[in-house]
Amino acid sequence: MTNGYFDGDNYFDGDNAVHYDRRSADRFRPEVLDPAVDLLEELAGDGAALEFAIGTGRVGLPLSQRGVPVTGIELSADMVAQLEAKPGSGAVPVTVGDMTSTIVDGEFSLVYLVYNTIVNPRSQEGQIATFANAAAHLSPGGRFVIETNISPVRQLPKGERFVPFNVTPGHIGIDELDIATQMGISHHTWIDGDRVHTIDFHYRFTWPSELDLMARLAGMSLENRWENWHRAPFTSDSETHISVWRKD
Ligand SMILES: C[S@@+](CC[C@H](N)C(=O)[O-])C[C@H]1O[C@@H](n2cnc3c(N)ncnc32)[C@H](O)[C@@H]1O
Repeated sequence: MTNGYFDGDNYFDGDNAVHYDRRSADRFRPEVLDPAVDLLEELAGDGAALEFAIGTGRVGLPLSQRGVPVTGIELSADMVAQLEAKPGSGAVPVTVGDMTSTIVDGEFSLVYLVYNTIVNPRSQEGQIATFANAAAHLSPGGRFVIETNISPVRQLPKGERFVPFNVTPGHIGIDELDIATQMGISHHTWIDGDRVHTIDFHYRFTWPSELDLMARLAGMSLENRWENWHRAPFTSDSETHISVWRKD
């Protein structure tokens, strides 16, 4: 299902939904997941949380199990089917729709969008609309949290456009970056025994300051920016950021 500013294929349908948890196993490790859930639980306070692009519930389900009421919006019905097959999913209502425009009932103290998914709407307009839709669901003083990578453009020598980001026996990942258009392609090859599976994810990368302007357009201001879920300071060498904007 697509509407709003989503402008192309979703990569998380069919087999990619079935194999998502296995391929993202690294992200399910308690040392990776627990600090994220800890911080999101704290930021939700006594209110409810809305996860944009909730996927198979990697973050939403454990957050709900901590007692935070969690609602989800997710583009891929196949990802939602995976979530709904898991214990605890009955407590997490999910609407199939595009996070740039889908409205759900309720008022939230926290809206969050993790695992680099702000890059998925592949236009500046789509990303601006995502911020506006987050703000529309927040109560005054509520927070929008994004976890995303810093684009590895600084690793590109002049004239080059490929950056390998993971080269292991089971997975080869190479980013292809076009600086002029801020468009990227993540080329993935998974090798599983004698089976080889490839996906090319097209995305739009941003700099944190561009996201801050999108937040300002939506009536939110930057409250915190950290390098990771442990709240390490964000520096010139940070490769990821957790950003928190507060609705004015
Ligand atoms: C990398 S997965 C992250 C899933 C989950 N949040 C997690 O952390 O495991 C990206 C998810 O974003 C969803 N998605 C992509 N574009 C979307 C959009 N415009 N609206 C809603 N969901 C979207 C995909 O279907 C996929 O489930």
